[in-house]
Amino acid sequence: MATYNLKINGKSLEVSADSDTPLLWVLRDELKLVGTKYGCGIGQCGACTVHLDGIAVRSCSVTASSLESSNITTIEGLAKEKLHPVQEAWKEIDVPQCGYCQTGQIMTASSFLSRNPNPDQDAIRNAMQGNICRCGTYNRIEKAVALAAKKLS
Ligand code: FES
Ligand code: FES
Repeated sequence: MATYNLKINGKSLEVSADSDTPLLWVLRDELKLVGTKYGCGIGQCGACTVHLDGIAVRSCSVTASSLESSNITTIEGLAKEKLHPVQEAWKEIDVPQCGYCQTGQIMTASSFLSRNPNPDQDAIRNAMQGNICRCGTYNRIEKAVALAAKKLS
């Protein structure tokens, strides 16, 4: 086990982990940032999505040891003084059902909108299609992303 310095949600944090430990487990088990969820562990569901330098990445599929030069943002760090517009849109549309996948959905959507602030329906579907929701909230997710885009414009 080695010690790494990670920048997470604007704070510099020292963590101990094996070199092959996925970021997801450092976030959840060591730092207790449990908003990031474990779904599949193999990069297929999107529940564990966080931002690395603003880009949506699956935290189950990157090692913490490789990220000392990255800015990591989790759902706990997305809101600043107030909720992120994507979170506001999620509340207004009342997107979640069980909620389990929603962190990943919001992290994917917020990264996408930062690069594509005026997406059409196809672009939204394409951006969100890798995030699985077992409750089938896809229609509300699509509406919320479109609403968030309006809030951001
Ligand atoms: S837990 Fe990472 S993609 Fe499913
Ligand atoms: S809200 Fe239940 S899995 Fe998406």
